[in-house]
Amino acid sequence: ATAAFVLGTRPEIIKLAPVIKECDRRDVSTIVIHTGQHYSKSLDTVFFRQLDLAPPAVNLDVGSGSHGEQTGEMVIGIEQHLKDADPDVLFVQGDTNSTLAGALAGSKLDIEVAHIEAGLRSYDRDMPEERNRIIIDHAVDHLYPPTGETANLLREEGISDNRITVTGNTIVDAVMAYDDTSSSVSSILADLDLSPGEFDLLTAHRAENVDDRDRFANILFGVAAAATRRENDVIYPVHPRAKDRLEEFDLSVPDCIRTVEPLDFFDFLRLESTASLVFTDSGGVQEETCVLGTPCVTLRNGTERPETVFAGANCIVGHRPDDIVAGARQMRPKVGDWELPFGDGNASEYILDDLGFDASHRTRQPQE
Ligand code: UD1
Ligand code: UDP
Repeated sequence: ATAAFVLGTRPEIIKLAPVIKECDRRDVSTIVIHTGQHYSKSLDTVFFRQLDLAPPAVNLDVGSGSHGEQTGEMVIGIEQHLKDADPDVLFVQGDTNSTLAGALAGSKLDIEVAHIEAGLRSYDRDMPEERNRIIIDHAVDHLYPPTGETANLLREEGISDNRITVTGNTIVDAVMAYDDTSSSVSSILADLDLSPGEFDLLTAHRAENVDDRDRFANILFGVAAAATRRENDVIYPVHPRAKDRLEEFDLSVPDCIRTVEPLDFFDFLRLESTASLVFTDSGGVQEETCVLGTPCVTLRNGTERPETVFAGANCIVGHRPDDIVAGARQMRPKVGDWELPFGDGNASEYILDDLGFDASHRTRQPQE
């Protein structure tokens, strides 16, 4: 059997790594088609190396561009390579333009397409990701929502139950696989001269936040105000989109916020698990902090991961400084003993089981 994977951005590499590895364990051959949406080393190759993945078989080198241009170029390239590979299934993950392009190209070729992390909805149509999610979920054949709640949202949209299987989120597989390694190999605390529990962590890269000067400035001001009350420094690994906007808007970052380059996965996990509090507008970071037991303050008006809020791990504050300070005050005392909503860390296995990639699909027989 052959499984193809289309991916293009940092979170897709991290969340598909456990599925690719599970294919290897089951002797399902894999072909990875990288769209090239992310191309900076710190968002791309560093994760293949650290997560011990073979370099992608194909890189379309599409790079940055307008949504239509980027997505269209991807569809053309992916179609060609899918025709050559003729896989039994095509995996896509999440809600990026790469995910959308993979789902469209696979679906048009009548290849079985499986969407990992299906069913998430923020109900905020200003987010490009929300539009992508809706199109992807209605185009694919197999939907793997992380939770029962997300599965219900798919059913409410009329998607037939026999295409939906709740599996948990593969981010739990990844965190469980690498958390211990991260603790033992990462020297980031020493490198940045930090003590566990005595600093905050920030990520902010969403287009609707950083592409708006006032909004981005408010977020930086609010996070700094919240951290200063505790005399905490804030570590902010700056995504390239945010870096471009800081320069374009000539925004000055408050002194207590220490900007650093995007971190590799082990260093980032180490900071997430030892931070006093995490401020973020990332989807994956809301999930990881919930899994790692670190309280999270989400710098958005809503979330497609409400399970984290119901668990008591996350609160949604938007971008106004007063709201950010109030959210931090509410979340900082939390001790992280909430129930984990995103599964047991075996999502990749459940997905491959559902597709019938079991022992009978082995191309090599086990040795006597
Ligand atoms: C994309 C996804 C977003 C996801 C994020 C993960 C879409 C619509 N957005 O957003 O859902 O949360 O990835 O990080 O698919 N750039 C670089 N180097 C790179 C990549 C980008 O410098 O390797 C810069 C370029 O200036 C580019 C900008 O970042 O214009 C934005 O990149 P793009 O891939 O369009 O969107 P992201 O903001 O990364
Ligand atoms: N991440 C990382 N280094 C960083 C920031 C984030 O390795 O400096 C990882 C993080 O652990 C998570 C993923 O990147 O698994 C989240 O990606 P991002 O925030 O770019 O995208 P989103 O999840 O919002 O789509």
